[in-house]
Amino acid sequence: MVITLPFVSLEGVSYTYSGRKEAAVNNINLSFNKSEKITVTGANGSGKSTLAKLILGLLKPQKGKIILDNRPVDRYSLVEIGEKIGYVLQNPNQMLFNTSVYNEIAFGLKWKAKSKEEVRSLCKKYLDLFQLWEIRHEMPFNLSEGQKQLVVISAVLALQPSFLILDEPTKSIDTFRRKILADILQEIWRQGTGIMIISHDFELIAGFNGRRIHMVKGEIVEDEGGYKN
Ligand SMILES: Nc1ncnc2c1ncn2[C@@H]1O[C@H](COP(=O)(O)OP(=O)(O)OP(=O)(O)O)[C@@H](O)[C@H]1O
Ligand SMILES: [Mg+2]
Repeated sequence: MVITLPFVSLEGVSYTYSGRKEAAVNNINLSFNKSEKITVTGANGSGKSTLAKLILGLLKPQKGKIILDNRPVDRYSLVEIGEKIGYVLQNPNQMLFNTSVYNEIAFGLKWKAKSKEEVRSLCKKYLDLFQLWEIRHEMPFNLSEGQKQLVVISAVLALQPSFLILDEPTKSIDTFRRKILADILQEIWRQGTGIMIISHDFELIAGFNGRRIHMVKGEIVEDEGGYKN
């Protein structure tokens, strides 16, 4: 029998923001594999984004432990975690720091030591997904919320991560581009990329057809449709 260890596991994880009485995430037990597709739903303030930030090592739990690929998450640098999990935070403004849309996509590719030609062809390919090529010279700061979100999504997709966490990826996105994004996510999942989507977009979630996790007041109250259920 082959025992496969989960890609990520959380054991008894709790996190309370400083100055808060209630825990944002309370005693979470959760594990998932690298090839899963998972949706996380829950009311505003139920702890979804906090859960994602804990998995990504952006917040450190006060209680419990988080293992990523067989190692405690706090033993990785943020860059190493970023190499294992591509992510889009709920607020795209926290992720945009380059002087042009093009450089926003190119930055990570250059970091991965891609050649100049490869960088250009991947930038073109991923900006074309959402018709962003024509605004490649714009400053990300000046874009609409939806455009910012799409730039951040394109940048993470261009890196072809093996696992992807998206926090409210469709929040400001029009119906046409939502459909494109939903199709891309299904396609990359079929090709082997695990995906966790945090979303209030029930159309996206229903079409995604993955393991469904529902949070209430910092706790997971439903976990259905996964491998273990
Ligand atoms: N930086 C912070 N400082 C203090 N409290 C915070 C901070 N960020 C979140 N919280 C609190 O933690 C709880 C969980 O917030 P979180 O952002 O994880 O919820 P969420 O499920 O992602 O909500 P939404 O659907 O609105 O994005 C909320 O009570 C929130 O007010
Ligand atoms: Mg959130």
